Amino acid sequence: MRSILAAAACGLLVASSAVPAAGDATAGRAKSEPCLGCHGIPSYNNTYPTYHVPKLSGQHADYIVAALKAYRDGQRKHATMNVQAMSMSEQDMADIGAFWQGMEK
Ligand code: HEC
Repeated sequence: MRSILAAAACGLLVASSAVPAAGDATAGRAKSEPCLGCHGIPSYNNTYPTYHVPKLSGQHADYIVAALKAYRDGQRKHATMNVQAMSMSEQDMADIGAFWQGMEK
């Protein structure tokens, strides 16, 4: 009896932690407005100052979320992106990831 209860409790824990935050692409679009000026431009070169920006459209949501977390936590350093990610919640990142993943390549 005891082991059944323990197993059930374990199962619950696993189930609740395994569910990733579901990204909402529609919410992600609104949250990505400030990003489009840099990441949504043709040829992926920002005009002023001229520098290359990574292409995000069609990128995997998981990759985008991981990159944003790394910027937020300072593991990846880039002044602009550190600021962009600073105030994002996990849900914001999931939404933004869903939006870019669904965008045409
Ligand atoms: C002012 C221009 C600018 C804005 C605005 C901007 N980014 Fe970026 N972003 C960059 C640049 C430049 C890089 C490359 C930085 C580096 O080398 O780490 C980058 C990198 C990234 C990466 C990593 C891509 C990769 O291939 O590793 C992600 C994800 C990203 N940005 C998402 C966003 C999101 C989401 C927003 C809006 C909330 C945003 N960016 C706003 C310029 C910008």
